[in-house]
Formats: sequence, structure tokens, C-alpha cells
Amino acid sequence: MDDKESLNWTASLLSGRLGQYKILRMIGQGTSARVYLAEHIFLGRLTAVKILTCDFSCWPDFDLELFERTAVAAARLNHPNVVTLFDLDEVNARPFLLMEYVDGESLQALLKRTGALPPARALRILRDVALALGHAHAGGLVHCDVKPANILLQRNGPAKVTDFGLSQALNRAEHSGLDGMIVGTPTYLSPEQALAMRPDARSDLYSLGVTFFEMLTGRPPWEGMDAHAIMERHVDVDRSFIGRDLPGPARTLEPVLQRLLARSEDERFQNTRELLDDLVPHFRRIVPRTARKAVDLRNKLARLGELRDRSKQRSFLDSAPRTKLPS
Ligand SMILES: Nc1ncnc2c1ncn2[C@@H]1O[C@H](COP(=O)(O)OP(=O)(O)OP(=O)(O)O)[C@@H](O)[C@H]1O
Ligand SMILES: [Mg+2]
Repeated sequence: MDDKESLNWTASLLSGRLGQYKILRMIGQGTSARVYLAEHIFLGRLTAVKILTCDFSCWPDFDLELFERTAVAAARLNHPNVVTLFDLDEVNARPFLLMEYVDGESLQALLKRTGALPPARALRILRDVALALGHAHAGGLVHCDVKPANILLQRNGPAKVTDFGLSQALNRAEHSGLDGMIVGTPTYLSPEQALAMRPDARSDLYSLGVTFFEMLTGRPPWEGMDAHAIMERHVDVDRSFIGRDLPGPARTLEPVLQRLLARSEDERFQNTRELLDDLVPHFRRIVPRTARKAVDLRNKLARLGELRDRSKQRSFLDSAPRTKLPS
């Protein structure tokens, strides 16, 4: 469906309006949803509207309670590196989400346009995403679908992570096991997700590792093979390619990648704090001083937010996937 047809589709579905919002144009499209730019008719505020492309009947194992619980948990996230979720509603039995509009592009689009990123840029994005994940993990919410398409780069601003828990809430992960039907791209799945086991915070760190590898080399570790073969590579223990594939200036980051991409969860960083601590010397060496100062300030603010969150909440989710990590 091209842009014009898609707008027609929206117009017929929504008559160009969605409650108090006017649909302006389509921003992007994924496997299960279309994302539109919308404007509040009175306040003029721009918002992203993500409408699932088919109704609830498309997901045979759809668990409404899990979907709603995940949305509630995601809506509680309040962090500069997280795309804020404002509202969840439905139109013609299609769920839609209203969220912060990020003026910029996805990391996926950037990588497609430029190929490998300079290590300093890749490190800053890694750090922003780790901060976002740390905030969610502290409240018991696992993202389950960390990948370049879910990392939005605000123009002259930070990286922001979106779609927390959404793939799992739509039961997409369950269909991705080596023994099951494959839905979506398996490129960024952790080994445990490839084996249809329950992911935890360390699974997000693995997917972040795949993303980091792609930022540094311009391509994911495994591509050009069928989905099943890629998932077998995740489950395989051989990670010797990391040292071979990294470009010269990024070679010193190999130990970070080895830990992010470890086959066993126990050999990975156990939480985002461990990762961020490990990044400090790399940051000092690779990222220019002025950029570091800005990021340090942002980090301090994020940490203040984290402390405030911890004192306020015990857990966002009562029975949804929960991090097994030490707090
Ligand atoms: N809040 C937002 N602000 C600006 N652009 C967004 C926002 N959310 C999503 N987008 C854009 O819309 C695109 C489609 O997003 P969507 O989440 O539907 O699919 P995806 O993440 O690309 O892929 P998949 O559905 O396979 O996970 C994104 O790649 C991004 O470019
Ligand atoms: Mg997405």
C-alpha cells in the first residue's frame, strides 16, 4: 500500500479524525501497525498515533489482559530516553496508541542511509538505550524487542526507545521459537527467545548487543540466510566473528560485545548498570569531551529520575515478565 492509498485507508477508517486528533500523514509502517503523525485540534500538539493494522482476531492467542497490563506499565515509564505513551484506545476493534512524536528518524533508517556509525556515535546511542532499558527493568518491564527500528533518534537530541513490551503483548515472541512459526525478524532475538523461553532483562541486553554490533559494522552479525538459520546462530556459542568483523577504531569494544552477545545469560552483563559502568573507560577514550559533558548531565538527570521512581513504586507489573536481576 503506498502513502496515498494508506491515507485513504485512514480517512475511510477514521474520517481523518481520531477523537481530538487530526491525522496528518503516515510516518512509517511495521509488521503489525502503521504510525501516523497527528495534531491535537485545539492544542496543536503533534503526536504519533500507532494503529494496529488488523483487529484483535488476527492474534489467535491474544491475551487482552496482558496487553492492557503491559500498556499500563509502559505508560508509567517517564524518562528522557523513552518515548512517552499517552493513551491507549481502540477504533473499529483496532487498538491504537497515542505517543510522543519523535521528530527525527529511526536508527534503522540512519543505518540504512549511512552504514556503520563512528564508534563515538554508536557509544552514545548504546548508552541512551541502556539508560532507557535500566529505567524499565527497575520497574519489572522487559522490552522484548530491542532493535534499530524501535530506537528513535530525535533531531539534535537523544535516542529514545519505543514499543516496550508490545511484541510480547501481541504474542509475537511466542511464535518465534525454533520449533514454532516464525513471525517478524529473528535478527535481534536473544538465544532464549529463539528457544521460546521466557526473556528477562538480560535478553534485552543481548538484543542491544546485536544492535550495537550493527551500529559499529553496518550490518547485523547474521544476515542473508533464512530465519531458522539465523536463530540457530544465536543459539550457537561461537562468537569469534566479533573480533574479526569489527573495524579498526572499534576493536577495543570487542570485550563489551562479547559480554553483550554471550550465549549464556549468566555470562552477560547482569543489568544495565554493569554495562554502563563498563562503558566508562571506553567513553572517556572514544567520545569527545564536550559531547561527554552533555551526556553526563543528561545521565545525572536520568539517575535522579531513577531514584525518584524506585522510591515511588514497587513494581509496574504484578505477573508480567519480571527481571530476575539484583536491584
Ligand atoms: N513515536 C514515534 N515518533 C516518530 N516516528 C515513529 C514513532 N513510532 C514509530 N515511528 C516510525 O514508524 C515506523 C514504524 O513503527 P512500527 O513500530 O509500527 O514498526 P517497526 O518497529 O518499524 O517494525 P515492527 O512492527 O516489525 O516491529 C518506525 O520505524 C519509525 O520510523
Ligand atoms: Mg516499532
